[in-house]
Amino acid sequence: MHYAAILAGGSGVRMGNPDKPKQFFFVGEKPILVHTVEKFCVSGSFEKVLVLCPATWVQQTRDLLQRFCPEFVSQIAVIQGGETRNGTILNSLKYLEQNGLLDDDAIVVTHDAVRPFVNLRIIEDNIAAALKTGACDTVVPATDTIVESLDGDAISAIPDRHFLYQGQTPQSFNGRKLKEVLESLSDEEKAVLTDACKAFVLRGLPVQLVRGDASNIKITYPQDLRVAETMLGE
Ligand code: CTP
Repeated sequence: MHYAAILAGGSGVRMGNPDKPKQFFFVGEKPILVHTVEKFCVSGSFEKVLVLCPATWVQQTRDLLQRFCPEFVSQIAVIQGGETRNGTILNSLKYLEQNGLLDDDAIVVTHDAVRPFVNLRIIEDNIAAALKTGACDTVVPATDTIVESLDGDAISAIPDRHFLYQGQTPQSFNGRKLKEVLESLSDEEKAVLTDACKAFVLRGLPVQLVRGDASNIKITYPQDLRVAETMLGE
């Protein structure tokens, strides 16, 4: 079975509104989170779409989904996220386990709630890659030259751009393997391994690349909201 885990447990500090996490901001006529959840429900690929949000937003999230996409609520479970992004992912895996859904073949497609422009092709390619390899990451080739500086003052390296990609989401996994890898992290590793795919790479496990799309933007700063409004109107 395939499950989607929509990660909406963050507080959106860079967006600058401490009272309302950015995933609840409106773009067009609906909250960003609703746009994102709809993409996964419409795909028809998922047994269940899990939405993970801050504890204090669980009821409001249920109410919003009931109001804006009532046709999908029977497919959706809203649950509490974690302190960190990986903690949020782990909560989705624990939910699946507690409900007897985390069998050997369970595929979990994790996606940032604040990437509402993900498309069906990317979702389907993620499922296929996770089934084949056990883990995959959605990426686009780096367009800018990436400059490395270890001291924030002078350049230490300029890696060859042909080998560099920018990570998007979804990131998709065999659910059991993902739980095993995340639970194996020490406290020191947890502090640096904020990306689930990076944890796989450091454990020597293969992570397949899936081609993303420039339109699959992450809404991070206030100016991204204007870009998103424009994209929605196109
Ligand atoms: N996220 C999550 N649980 C956390 C932290 C982040 O589910 N404990 C989610 C966010 O809600 C978001 C996605 O991970 O959909 C990508 O993270 P990011 O853009 O960094 O979101 P925030 O952590 O909310 O933003 P900021 O870093 O500006 O506070």
